[in-house]
Amino acid sequence: MKILVTGGAGYIGSFMVKRLLDDGFEVVVLDSLERGHKDAVDNRAELAVGNLLDKAFIAEVFSQNAFDGIIHFGGYISVGESMQKPALYFDNNTEATINLLEETVARNVKKIIFSSTAAVYGDPERTPIDEDHPKNPESVYGESKLMVERILKWYQKIHQMNFVALRYFNACGAALDGSMGEQHSPETHIIPCAVRAMMEKKPFTLFGTDYNTPDGTCVRDYIHVLDLVEAHILALKHLEKNSGGFFYNVGTGIGYSNKEVLEMVKKESGESLEIVTAERRPGDADTLVADPTRINTELGFKPQHSDLETIVKSALAWHKRN
Ligand SMILES: NC(=O)c1ccc[n+]([C@@H]2O[C@H](COP(=O)([O-])OP(=O)(O)OC[C@H]3O[C@@H](n4cnc5c(N)ncnc54)[C@H](O)[C@@H]3O)[C@@H](O)[C@H]2O)c1
Repeated sequence: MKILVTGGAGYIGSFMVKRLLDDGFEVVVLDSLERGHKDAVDNRAELAVGNLLDKAFIAEVFSQNAFDGIIHFGGYISVGESMQKPALYFDNNTEATINLLEETVARNVKKIIFSSTAAVYGDPERTPIDEDHPKNPESVYGESKLMVERILKWYQKIHQMNFVALRYFNACGAALDGSMGEQHSPETHIIPCAVRAMMEKKPFTLFGTDYNTPDGTCVRDYIHVLDLVEAHILALKHLEKNSGGFFYNVGTGIGYSNKEVLEMVKKESGESLEIVTAERRPGDADTLVADPTRINTELGFKPQHSDLETIVKSALAWHKRN
């Protein structure tokens, strides 16, 4: 089977590419390399460098390959940036996806897996959050992804395009031997930021200690990148046997507080970390934890690496090698 992986030079995409190749899939990566890394792409994959905003480029890639399915990671991921530059996110996440979908329809490819996000829910009314929870994004980033989810539903209805939208909670961790990992620039995720602060002997800024949580810091659901890519394999299998559109949370249902994360970084590294506290950031919810029942029962998803110790250990191994 030949799979197109957009954004395959990015953090999660590069793990997906390796996983697919190890399983015997043929893989073509489509990535602008604007926010990804050429050296993160497994050299067994074919790399097509170009932008999803460029329709002629997408058409060229499809004209050279007969794809059996598409896994679509390509996009921008920063909530903060999206609140400063909304057009950038509606263009790059929503419009670019329409370009991809149009070519997908033209070439009669019927399976797509889309990287959605817990940010589609906004500030939760209840937690853990199930898939039917109301969708009220608090950011342009979340809105740009929710728009794609809605567009996918229309493409399913009109063009019979089958899709799985996976709403990731917090993707994190690295290869267990530290050979691959997260390299966003700028980095905004707590684990790489804390590890870097520790290694560079700089203070780590903890935003908000007065949240309505047991220790006053935000609680989040962390999913190890190795488990996250398994969810995509399960989604691909699901689309081999089922037609329609499907939405799944990808999380563990377990929440860790920011303080617990920072304590684990200290414990696993055996080093000190200076923590300075600051005011809450606007828009950060107290607790964001998935109800993963649907993906567990319908797809048989069982995270293997998403305990905090393994997550932090692997992230430390990656940062030490880099
Ligand atoms: N990292 C997380 O915790 C998280 C959480 C929820 C959802 N997601 C989603 O998962 C996907 C992957 O996230 P990531 O952390 O690997 O991000 P990343 O920034 O590491 O990777 C994204 C890749 O997409 C490429 N890209 C961006 N816009 C493009 C375009 N217009 N044309 C071609 N390539 C383009 C970038 O160059 C980059 O290589 C994103 O869609 C993101 O919204 C990530």
